[in-house]
Amino acid sequence: MAAWDLLFRRVHLATFAGDEPYGMLRDGALAVRAGRIVWLGAERDLPREARAAQEIDGAGRWLLPGLIDCHTHLVHAGNRAQEFELRLQGASYEEIARAGGGIRATVAATRAADEEALVAASRPRLDRLIAEGVTTVEIKSGYGLELSAERRMLRAARTLGDTAPVRVTTTFLGAHALPPEYDGRADDYIAEVCDVMLPALFREGLVDAVDAFCEHIAFSPAQTEAVFRAARALRLPVRVHAEQLSDSGGGAALAARYGALCADHLEHLSDTGAAALAAAGSVAVLLPGAFYFLRETQLPPVARLRALGVPIAIATDCNPGTSPLSSLLLALNMACVLFRLAPAEALAGVTRNAARALGRVSDLGTLEAGKLADLGLWNVDAPVELCYHLGYNPLALRMFGGQISGA
Ligand code: NIG
Ligand code: FE
Repeated sequence: MAAWDLLFRRVHLATFAGDEPYGMLRDGALAVRAGRIVWLGAERDLPREARAAQEIDGAGRWLLPGLIDCHTHLVHAGNRAQEFELRLQGASYEEIARAGGGIRATVAATRAADEEALVAASRPRLDRLIAEGVTTVEIKSGYGLELSAERRMLRAARTLGDTAPVRVTTTFLGAHALPPEYDGRADDYIAEVCDVMLPALFREGLVDAVDAFCEHIAFSPAQTEAVFRAARALRLPVRVHAEQLSDSGGGAALAARYGALCADHLEHLSDTGAAALAAAGSVAVLLPGAFYFLRETQLPPVARLRALGVPIAIATDCNPGTSPLSSLLLALNMACVLFRLAPAEALAGVTRNAARALGRVSDLGTLEAGKLADLGLWNVDAPVELCYHLGYNPLALRMFGGQISGA
């Protein structure tokens, strides 16, 4: 038999494949060749003739799929700590946004930064995710809101993926907020997004998916739908920020009609919206960092999503306004404590279901033969510990595309 590049022995596996919530396989082994998982099973079933160039003794640690942060605004300049202070004095997120602060403040800072500055500002956030065993990160544009600045954001995201041991998928979020120069002309801005910005950035290979913020302080369902139609014309998958602050838009149901990969936030999701996601097979991406940081009280309808079989993913939403969070482990804890997810559900939400939210479940998100060898070896007695510790990182070893890189 062909030799393997690497063999993990004496490991317990949480595969997130199969019916059991963690997909547990105790006393296992896992082999890697040419960047992919080629064999896994009980150690006692290892083929007798098995040979590997390198062996790693896991000493009873737990091996999980590399973690996936499927919703971030990680590339941006500046921060909004002053806005945080104002909110603590009583101002609401919406009031600040309507007064020209909020997203627009980050737009001003991001427009003023060149590509190199954006990479430099964003790299420490990415490094913190990588240090916690994250191997795939989705990064959105949406703080440029003009062609050249959106391009710089997406190019910075690509550069981060090319220069760090992590897969980056990009999402064009031109419809994030109305830029000041389009005040009172939202339809004109949406036309610019659909007819100019998206096609140009797509041609440059910078766009893997398309997102829009469907909300009364952002874009209407009709404007959101125009963006989805433009994406469909280019055969790009869509996703949506929906039902975060209100149930005014029905954005999730609209996205579902366009076969969305996922709908995100969803605190105010209606029963109809949840049923639409279920029918479309879209993932519900819950963002407990934003819920926590905005001191929201309306919980996303987790029980309803569960009952309908809607896959749930969890992400950091790393952004300067509503979730200045660059710890996916902390997001896991928040998903359990604030949203009452079971730890196995939360972990499936940063592995299998997060891969699905990125349209990458065929090669990422579970430990299965044939998938890419993105893995984390964790120094824990059970996988639940990834959700349990606060501010403690038990990662022992990280593998990215078959290469050991980090921890
Ligand atoms: O995911 N909801 C809209 N967009 C971001 C917040 C962006 C900002 O405030 O800068 C979010 O929460
Ligand atoms: Fe977001």
